[in-house]
Amino acid sequence: MATWPRLAAALWAALTSALLAATHSPAARAEDGYELWLRYHPLESAAAAVYRAAAGELVVQGDTPSLAAARDELARGLEGLLGGEVPLSEGVTRDGAIVVGTPASSPIVRGLALDLGALGPEGYMLASREIGGRAATVVAANTGVGALYGAFHFLRLIQTQASIDDLAITSAPRVRLRLLNHWDNLDGYVERGYAGASIWDWRMLPDYRDPRYTDYARAAASVGINGVSLTNVNADATVLTPEYLDRVAALADVLRPYGVRVYLTARFSAPVEIGGLATADPLDPQVRAWWAEKAEEIYARAPDFGGFLVKANSEGQPGPQDYGRSHAEGANMLADALAPHGGVVMWRAFVYASDNPDDRHKQAYDELAPLDGEFRDNVLIQVKNGPIDFQPREPFHPLFGAMPETPLMLEVQITKEYLGFATHLAYLGPLWEEALDADTHARGEGSTVGRVIDGSLHGYAITGMAGVSNVGADRNWTGSHFDQANWYAFARLAWDHELDAEAIAEEWARMTFSNEDALVAPVVAMMMRSREAVVDYMTPLGLHHLMATGHHYGPGPWVDDLGRPDWNPTYYHRADADGLGFDRTAAGSGALAQYAPELQEMWGDPETVPESLLLWFHHVPWDHEMESGRTLWEELVHAYSRGVATVAGMRETWASLEGYVDPERFAQVAAFLAIQEREARWWRDACLAYFQTFAQRPFPEGYEPPAQTLEHYMAIEHPYAPGETRPQ
Ligand code: GCU
Repeated sequence: MATWPRLAAALWAALTSALLAATHSPAARAEDGYELWLRYHPLESAAAAVYRAAAGELVVQGDTPSLAAARDELARGLEGLLGGEVPLSEGVTRDGAIVVGTPASSPIVRGLALDLGALGPEGYMLASREIGGRAATVVAANTGVGALYGAFHFLRLIQTQASIDDLAITSAPRVRLRLLNHWDNLDGYVERGYAGASIWDWRMLPDYRDPRYTDYARAAASVGINGVSLTNVNADATVLTPEYLDRVAALADVLRPYGVRVYLTARFSAPVEIGGLATADPLDPQVRAWWAEKAEEIYARAPDFGGFLVKANSEGQPGPQDYGRSHAEGANMLADALAPHGGVVMWRAFVYASDNPDDRHKQAYDELAPLDGEFRDNVLIQVKNGPIDFQPREPFHPLFGAMPETPLMLEVQITKEYLGFATHLAYLGPLWEEALDADTHARGEGSTVGRVIDGSLHGYAITGMAGVSNVGADRNWTGSHFDQANWYAFARLAWDHELDAEAIAEEWARMTFSNEDALVAPVVAMMMRSREAVVDYMTPLGLHHLMATGHHYGPGPWVDDLGRPDWNPTYYHRADADGLGFDRTAAGSGALAQYAPELQEMWGDPETVPESLLLWFHHVPWDHEMESGRTLWEELVHAYSRGVATVAGMRETWASLEGYVDPERFAQVAAFLAIQEREARWWRDACLAYFQTFAQRPFPEGYEPPAQTLEHYMAIEHPYAPGETRPQ
């Protein structure tokens, strides 16, 4: 009879009290952040002893590349965390065996007759079992990749010092396609990237496969990412030439064991640009044949190629409308080319045309909703979380709930184009949670965006979620240490949108910094406040798109001279002597009509719309009374000031944590927070100085007026914003 569970329980109790009594031990060595959350540093000895008892040997039966990856990760992780090698064994020979496999690969797993049916191809089970009278932990799945995901989960339990007694965990993704979208150009530049150059070194591929690709794949798999679109949505047809497809195939080879498939952005005019055809008309037989052949070429090199991501007829990109064809005709042509190979088309809904003067909020809906049901089965429409463009806060995109016959994917932006780049600390878990939990009312109450994209609301056959990646060649991957949390949180929510953003932040903080509660609690609290702080100091109360031209980093609410009306901040805030905000009710642009009747009713009235969206939907008088009793003008001053104060508080919190974090990471975060506080003030002062010229009201008592004149802020030029590798 096995004894270790009881022994472990006793040790557990001892450990808990030991930990309670322990004082913190300053982190020993500087860290550069390369390890991300897969930091397998030794646990304190008491904790390590507990887990060591449950990690006596590693039994991985089966030798597929994914099972080998699971074995290597467990060996590496356990050795690091527990401070000693865990022996590999062919079978269970002692208590504390960790058994990993699938029913097909492992006689032991098969013999346990576990109920894995509901787990699908990617789910897994972690179960405490007795095997031949010995205590074991079983990591079982239907596929090697599922087992790899289970291995990462098991390691996470140890990394976060959770109990591994009596495990009975099952987990399966709610969404099938979980992708990172890299906006990487072939010349190495990353559009809206703030973490250095692209990690894909096209010049050295396919001959040199940077080991970093494997670490990228490990990180992706550790959080369940199963696809990566390698190239910018503003696409370059060159990547579809044979020379580049060889390079793509090399990347696919590296990523494959980790369950990550590659996708490419398809430039719609490629048949003309690299195929020598006279047209790219999707109904032209030669064009259709060209794409079919292209698909053959790709699949000959990468049999598990995922498919195409397409930005068409938007912001100058070519598309089917250039030939008088619809989005559906364009998407279906590519879908037909991919279908024999099992590939999908992710057709982006971020479409707005230069000749359409209508409120940009409405354009994607107007173009695509009428096409519902016209797309092939292997087409998904990829929709940004909001109708404008990744602003600090937007209402959910009205297409969600409006296309029951067409699988809609959610696209969010991990890279913080509009939230202070990599310099500002903004944890985006709460933003995405808000988007996923938003109720579309499409089929009555509870018709959340999460339920749209996981397919449960409309019965979609394919489901997906994509995040615009913030990864670059910077040593710490994401340009700042805290932006790693956004990569992490995106993936965790793509796996299961019902996870809680705060719990995700805690997991991440424990793995990334330390398990000491004195660090974890304040760091998580700081993260949870951070996105709202950015909303406050950039675009409170439903304001949006106030950034300066080009770089999108600093404030520019006065900008009114850009080529198209809807590129100008003045188009969005509509400040005048009467008030502030964009009237999107029937009396204004009418965009509100794209939402369900319940929402039209609630959001259509300035008294019942949530104040966080007030100025998104309404033009509101400066003296409008807010819930707080303040006027709109006073509330605006209050919100901007609160944002700055929150950042000042975050800075203080971080300063108090010196000694809990290694000096290198501590110093960088501290420096970035100082920049953020200064720039939060810049945003506040510039926006308030500008809006005051319309409000014509004094600063309320107790609030500092802007430090400088409006002219000063308007004169600030920022051609080289932090993190940008090429000025826009
Ligand atoms: C934003 C961003 C562009 C990007 C576009 C898109 O407008 O600024 O760089 O190309 O979104 O999502 O296609």
